[in-house]
Amino acid sequence: MRYDLIFITTALLCLLVGETLGIHMGISQDFTLVPAHVHLNLLGWVTLAAFGLMHRAYPALGASRMALVQCVLAIIANIAMPAGLALMLLSANHDPTLVKYASLAVILATVLFIIMFVRKVALAKAA
Ligand code: HEM
Repeated sequence: MRYDLIFITTALLCLLVGETLGIHMGISQDFTLVPAHVHLNLLGWVTLAAFGLMHRAYPALGASRMALVQCVLAIIANIAMPAGLALMLLSANHDPTLVKYASLAVILATVLFIIMFVRKVALAKAA
């Protein structure tokens, strides 16, 4: 599976949406969604692109049994978190449920990636 391409393509789409939201905020002078813009750009664009570039730099990561689960979880969580922020900020009751669960999933995806990196790259190289 080409995890590098999957991550980087998804990250570029997040960048496009994040930039579009930024332009919309600038034109409308409505900054309600700044937190969603920031998190879509930093979790969606920067973080997912970094995962993709690391898969490219260290192909052994893709051989991990956790790679598929980590990839699917990271993409869903890193997009759901800013989406949840937008829904929370725009809804009348400001329900934070999606933000909370998505944030925990973001952390879980990060932990899985760290385990993959340590096992397949750091310890493998040291051995
Ligand atoms: C077309 C591209 C972009 C446009 C038009 C844009 C527009 C904006 C606007 C209007 C704000 C709100 C500023 C305010 O509250 O006064 C903002 C905030 C922010 N943007 Fe963007 N943005 C763009 C791309 C990006 C990218 C690529 C990133 C990160 C990788 C980013 C990160 C941030 C951050 C961190 C803030 C919060 C700044 C703060 O509150 O101090 N933006 N952006």
